Amino acid sequence: MANNYTVRIQGKNSDITVAEDQSILDAALRANEWLPHSCTQGTCGTCKLEVLCGEVRHNESPEYTLTTDERAEGLALGCMATPCSDLVVEPIGGAGDNGIPRFPLRDYAGTVTVLEDIAANTRRLVVEVDTPMLFNAGQYVELIVPGHNVGRQYSLANPPTETRNLEFHVKLTTGGLATDGWIFGPMQVGDRISLRGPLGQFNLVNQQDEAAILIGGGTGLAPLKSIVQHALAERLVPELYLYHGGRRQEDLYDVGFFRDLAQEHEHFHYRPALSEEQWDGAMGMVTDVVLDDFSSCKGMSAYLCGPPAMVEAAVKALKRRRMAPRLIFREEFTIAA
Ligand code: FES
Repeated sequence: MANNYTVRIQGKNSDITVAEDQSILDAALRANEWLPHSCTQGTCGTCKLEVLCGEVRHNESPEYTLTTDERAEGLALGCMATPCSDLVVEPIGGAGDNGIPRFPLRDYAGTVTVLEDIAANTRRLVVEVDTPMLFNAGQYVELIVPGHNVGRQYSLANPPTETRNLEFHVKLTTGGLATDGWIFGPMQVGDRISLRGPLGQFNLVNQQDEAAILIGGGTGLAPLKSIVQHALAERLVPELYLYHGGRRQEDLYDVGFFRDLAQEHEHFHYRPALSEEQWDGAMGMVTDVVLDDFSSCKGMSAYLCGPPAMVEAAVKALKRRRMAPRLIFREEFTIAA
């Protein structure tokens, strides 16, 4: 039986209970106390905390995210650190949540209802959860790989109004435990699966008066699909641009879905782009297509999700077009093998 400790988050009114084998972040989110976080795997550093009082165990916190010097100064990663005593902690940069309503982290069970090939080595997976999951567009969940008790992270592609049927886009990684070994292997419609969520802070920040540009590569489209549906339903932005990049037509998916949305909403613009195959749509690297389409992005915001090289190129392109860095939001894209 694990010991429990009390953790006070500086600036919040309530204390939370954290088991000795539980991360501070996990306990906080389950108690619906928001703490900044992104990857929940120790790689991004978004969850860095200062331990003002008490002792923590750093567990597998990597040196490149939390240096020896930072540990000596009393810093810790909320997603990795577990308590060795009662604690007082303070998130670096504060625990502000931008006024976005937050929903508690929970464990869920559900049934696979859709499993279909939608692009090259890409599947759509829909899971009907037994109890509704409340989340923000852009967040992700962890699917628990059966028999291994490890989680793999996938963004929710369904809008937040759809709380029971959760949609994921999954790219095959050859030899990957969750993809090759499960979702592209023995998984079948009707299977029961476990998941936990919601997680992450890749959300549309409400910019009522300026346009938003969403740029996705591969299955980086998933959180953008959720954000598009949410933004259109709630009329959150005056102009909304969605770019989806691939090499060949076989890499794109949901083209008809987004074309139909663009027909219905004149302020929504959908621009799929191919870099290696001629077709009747935009040609070239998706970030070059963005550069060609805009002479200035001043005042606009952007939401990026895809392979790191694409995200880096997009950030560069948007800065060249005078978009403020603070209005460029990116989802850390990890291959969920
Ligand atoms: Fe903790 Fe990324 S390092 S959320």
